[in-house]
Amino acid sequence: MDEKETGRLVEAALKARRFAKAKYSNFHVGTAILTTDNQIFSGCNVESSSYSLSICAERIALTKALSEGKTDFKAIAIAGRDGVFCPPCGACRQMLYDYAPDLIVILSDGRRTRVYSLKELLPHAFDDSQLSTK
Ligand code: THU
Repeated sequence: MDEKETGRLVEAALKARRFAKAKYSNFHVGTAILTTDNQIFSGCNVESSSYSLSICAERIALTKALSEGKTDFKAIAIAGRDGVFCPPCGACRQMLYDYAPDLIVILSDGRRTRVYSLKELLPHAFDDSQLSTK
């Protein structure tokens, strides 16, 4: 990821954050996932009055891309509250790992970025290799 590509992805995450449906937590999150063929799919968190049904922004971006036939991913940018870095929750780390173990995770606080690998955020991950009956 060069600076220009990172900037473009962060911009898409910040733009998606505007659509967050977060009236219960008032915590607005925007994300954007980049495919290896350079397409961007964005997402925002969508909350429910039955709180536990709420969906994180990361899983929305990921499932939008998967549901349009995309299977190879380079990076995801995540933007929470300005001034604060918003790392992905545990459930999102797992689901991102299931589909993109080599993903780069870019956190934006609206001004600066921090870059991690998903493997560093989810060490010793569970994956489908453990499901094997052999
Ligand atoms: N949330 C996300 O969308 N992504 C994260 O990485 C952390 C949390 C959402 C879930 C909920 O709508 C709100 O932020 C507060 O937890």
